[in-house]
Amino acid sequence: MEETIPPMESGNLHDYEVACKEFAWASVDKEFDWSKGSIYNVAYEAIDRHAKNWRRNKIALYSVRADGVVDKHTFGEMSELTSRFASGLLKLGAKKGDRIFVYLDRTPELYISMIGVTKMGGIVGPLFSALGHDAVKDRALDAGANIIITSPYLYERIIPVLDDLIDLKKIVIVGDTEGMCDRCVKFEDVLASGDPEYQAENMAPTDPYIIHYTSGSTGKPKGVLLGHRAMPQQLITSKWVLDLREDDTYWCTADPGWVTGTSYGIFGPWYLGTSIVSYEGRFDARTWYSLLERFKITVWYTAPTALRMLMRAGDELVKEFNFSKLRHVCSVGEPLNAEVIRWAMRTMNKRIHDTWWQTETGAHIICNYPAMTIRPGSMGRPIPGVIAGVVDEEGNEAPPGTEGYLAIRPGWPSMMLGVWRNTPKFREYFEVPGWYISGDLAYRDEDGYFWFLGRADDVIKTSGERLGPFEVESALIEHYAVAEAGVIGKPDELRGEIVKAFITLRPGNEPSEDLKEDITKFVKTRLAYYAYPREIDFVDSLPKTRSGKIMRRVLKAKELGQPVGDLSTLDD
Ligand code: WTA
Repeated sequence: MEETIPPMESGNLHDYEVACKEFAWASVDKEFDWSKGSIYNVAYEAIDRHAKNWRRNKIALYSVRADGVVDKHTFGEMSELTSRFASGLLKLGAKKGDRIFVYLDRTPELYISMIGVTKMGGIVGPLFSALGHDAVKDRALDAGANIIITSPYLYERIIPVLDDLIDLKKIVIVGDTEGMCDRCVKFEDVLASGDPEYQAENMAPTDPYIIHYTSGSTGKPKGVLLGHRAMPQQLITSKWVLDLREDDTYWCTADPGWVTGTSYGIFGPWYLGTSIVSYEGRFDARTWYSLLERFKITVWYTAPTALRMLMRAGDELVKEFNFSKLRHVCSVGEPLNAEVIRWAMRTMNKRIHDTWWQTETGAHIICNYPAMTIRPGSMGRPIPGVIAGVVDEEGNEAPPGTEGYLAIRPGWPSMMLGVWRNTPKFREYFEVPGWYISGDLAYRDEDGYFWFLGRADDVIKTSGERLGPFEVESALIEHYAVAEAGVIGKPDELRGEIVKAFITLRPGNEPSEDLKEDITKFVKTRLAYYAYPREIDFVDSLPKTRSGKIMRRVLKAKELGQPVGDLSTLDD
């Protein structure tokens, strides 16, 4: 018999089948103050309205520093701080619709900035603090960033590219500004200049509140715009999928540089008035377990690579901790192996609920719910109110068990509004009539469960981070010794995939371990700490089409020892 994990007795979504038949999006509207005539703004719904009711003194944020010290902020405090910051930004010259980037570690200022920017009607651009100066430049230049909010050490990192950022007017520094450029102002001073009573800007549903840069197989990362209209979907999925309730303490391990860290690390849970925990430090098995125990985390949202790392740390370590408060666990970002699900059942007696969605979808699409049977290895079923399918190139739905493109009927509330200054790219998602094409391959079983098969393109997922090969290749060829580079995702047991680069050298350079190390360091500092090739092969030539495009699929097939397929367009 097929392996399944039985449903739990309770869950905010009691009956999936009934909800699929009866649910209407309009029913979620009444959960928001704007349905009663109040301001329409994500920041208002996430923070301000709670500050006006009994949640005023409830903790909104437990921000745990890397050294373990905790800063706590109530909804009331967050409301005042973010109002100050929003009006302080306006005084600095910021305007509604400006792109304001937040390049910070996971500290309270990051959360104050995210909410503050959206409160004044800005489009916030979160940047993971592991990004290097070239990655920041690509994004800030593309978006025409007007302000960057950062910290002294990250400011130091981007000095080499500051002069290139022509639209940049101010840099807000969390810390001391001594010796910095005259565009720099202190975060503290912005707060001090602001009005704690400032009211959030009234926005339209189709106004963007955030720009997330994300990768495809071609070109540099694109700015995906999500709108204030995403609210209902982010709220209802925080209820149904994350199963959040009033008394929960919730920890989302994703960084707000990525969509999981904003849709479900900030906005969704805060629409519900949930207390969230944020940890500044990096992954460490013992630290993570101790955070779950110390903060009595009840709901935990994390990723397969982290779970696999915990699994590797051994069953003995798990036994040292008490997870009696942990009620619900979800995972996202890459395929969740059945083995990990079995491990969590065995060691913690917890079901792990896989969830599938993308930056472009803005919120959950295909998920597992507490009150639904889990089929380990399956991503689950579409959320009520959304229709997903597996289709061929003409948009015909594939029969059960047949591979095809994972697609969604356009028009779900949190669907991206567009791609910043790149309408052709946006249109590409909708080329198959009647569908949004996700770029993933999947099949659906007889009972409507979706199973992930892989990407239809060259996008790499390493430790859950989405990475475009072009981005890495562009960084590689900036290195003095590199002539050409082809980059692929190579399957990896722990990280899902690792970045592998095939490199031809410029005349006068010889392959060596030292050179590999130098290239690695180069990519880490310019692009991102996680984006460097963990494997480098120096080769004499790369397979190319007659028009000179590197054929990554040939590199990948060769690497995996698979047939290389149709080579009719190959150059030699
Ligand atoms: C992959 C993250 C398998 C997929 C929220 C998708 C998954 C891409 C899953 C989006 C899952 C996400 N199982 N693969 N449960 N969830 N993916 O934009 O390839 O960083 O298209 O959004 O991650 O990545 P993104």
